[in-house]
Amino acid sequence: MTNQTLQLADRVRGLTAPTTFGRVLGVPPEGAVALTSGSPDVGLLPADEIADATAAVIADPVRRARALDYAARPGSLELREWIAEREGVDASRVFITNGALHAISVSLQSTVNPGDVLVVESPLYPLALSVAQLTGAAIETVPTDAHGLDVDALEAKLSAGLRPSAVYVVPDFQNPSGAVLAPERRVRLVELAERYGFVVVSDNPYATLRWAGEDIPDLDPASDRVIHANTFSKVLGPGLRVGWLVLPEWAYPGAVDIRARTDQHPSSLIQEIVAEIAARRG
Ligand SMILES: Cc1ncc(COP(=O)(O)O)c(C=O)c1O
Repeated sequence: MTNQTLQLADRVRGLTAPTTFGRVLGVPPEGAVALTSGSPDVGLLPADEIADATAAVIADPVRRARALDYAARPGSLELREWIAEREGVDASRVFITNGALHAISVSLQSTVNPGDVLVVESPLYPLALSVAQLTGAAIETVPTDAHGLDVDALEAKLSAGLRPSAVYVVPDFQNPSGAVLAPERRVRLVELAERYGFVVVSDNPYATLRWAGEDIPDLDPASDRVIHANTFSKVLGPGLRVGWLVLPEWAYPGAVDIRARTDQHPSSLIQEIVAEIAARRG
């Protein structure tokens, strides 16, 4: 027995919990559809397809062995190649994560120092703020309007001397405003990132859920200042915890280093199942 008091690490004690929308608005009435969280209706998720894909993976001796073994740190090559094709990038830039929140966390952990400035939209998805807190960065907010992040307001702050290391943005159907970042603002945001030397973390989980109008290309992945974060949560189910990052070449080794010191790799089994569904669906 020791007399020393039990005490959490400073890293944890300094954290404040951002309030989720659900906590502010309380428990929804019986039968109401809760719009305070980006949770898909479980009844609409492809459960039979997931069961089928799981059975196929387990029945195949090669895939079963892969599914039950340790795997590569950046994630399943098959899945990375599938994502790379959709994103129009090389698979060497795709990094599989445990969902989009983990993707935001890895990207910020590997590009933002304690004491740096991190710019976020206001209002923003509260869990992104909680992930951002772990970097020890000072959070600076920039307002949004009907067309997403107010890039003029950001530019004014940059002209006045603000020097962020990163800007976090949700371009399509932003959580919570629902705003879609206008195409010209996407271009200007990348230009500002290149001019002022910050990275833009573009978290885009709702882009594929558009049911009207034209898709707008995400922030240009050819820029070495742009990181894409995305997820299968909204189409296959948040419980699977599979997402991804598209990183510029220079940022990739940092993400691998963070992973090597946290979770090693995403679930091999779940990656095999998602790769099977992706291959079937094309
Ligand atoms: C903007 C945004 N980013 C990320 C996430 C988290 O996604 P995941 O469940 O894949 O971590 C959500 C979920 O609601 C979200 O709204």
